[in-house]
Amino acid sequence: MKPYIFITRKLPNDVVRPLLEKFEVKMWMYEDQAVPRKILLAEAAKADALLTMLTDKVDEALLKTGKKLKVVANMAVGYDNVDIQAASREGIAICNTPDVLTDTTADLTFALMMATARRIVEAAEFVKEGKWQSWSPFLLAGQDIHHKTIGIVGMGKIGQAVAKRATGFDMNILYHNRSRNQEAEKVLGATYANFEELLRTSDFIVCLTPLTKETRHLFTREAFRKMKPSAIFVNASRGPVVDEQALYDALVSGEIAGAGLDVFDKEPIGQDHPLLKLFNVVALPHIGSATIESRTGMMRLCVENIEAILEGRPPKTLVNK
Ligand code: DGY
Repeated sequence: MKPYIFITRKLPNDVVRPLLEKFEVKMWMYEDQAVPRKILLAEAAKADALLTMLTDKVDEALLKTGKKLKVVANMAVGYDNVDIQAASREGIAICNTPDVLTDTTADLTFALMMATARRIVEAAEFVKEGKWQSWSPFLLAGQDIHHKTIGIVGMGKIGQAVAKRATGFDMNILYHNRSRNQEAEKVLGATYANFEELLRTSDFIVCLTPLTKETRHLFTREAFRKMKPSAIFVNASRGPVVDEQALYDALVSGEIAGAGLDVFDKEPIGQDHPLLKLFNVVALPHIGSATIESRTGMMRLCVENIEAILEGRPPKTLVNK
């Protein structure tokens, strides 16, 4: 019997063709709707491999259900939706999709920072809504980005790619990370700062740290209080790294000047969420890696990792080594 693979979203046939040619493959029928938990559990029970999304909860219950399950290829660089320890206990390989999305996510992060600082979304709506009556000296005036200080929290590959972009804007680059990043220091001139120092001195605080037990609600009320009143906070990692109520309060009270958010505590964020009512928030629907090229690259990497494991070869990007 051929190994059975379940893919939790509808992906293009030409991308999954290598799997279709060799294995039995079933795909969830929708591209824009997550597979219901009950169906996912039933499929996991039968599958040799799962190709999952960040919207699928790959927890201990699911992993234990998968009696034949050998690999879960998660189509994201982040894997906070997966219980890695449980997977290792069950002998299931977990793979993610680093590298293929690094520059794309850095582009979006930088764009979000610029959009927030220069009020791009607000300005574009202003024109479309027919509000533009006259050029005026401070009409929709934002903040400069060039020659300012960017503080990157989480100096991994994406953080480094954001820092590289910041050098082109003559920015002073601070970073905070679990460990020192020698390359970022030597090649990009980034300076390590402790968390508090980074919060106090940065004009732009850019959050790119993965969500872990340690980073959940890293950005607390106290953290926002330490930032400059002119600071702009950008989050392109995971929503739960931020205490959203504290962020809201900081934005409303003027403790910080604005926020560019690609990720939220609960996704999709509800249209009536208070954060979305604020003029100084730019909100995006978790599109950091959303280009055709990167998303296709992520899918292909998942396919390659599944093929490798099912054929007894080492996968390219194994998380639980
Ligand atoms: C990731 O890869 O972790 C992103 O958040 C989804 O593109």
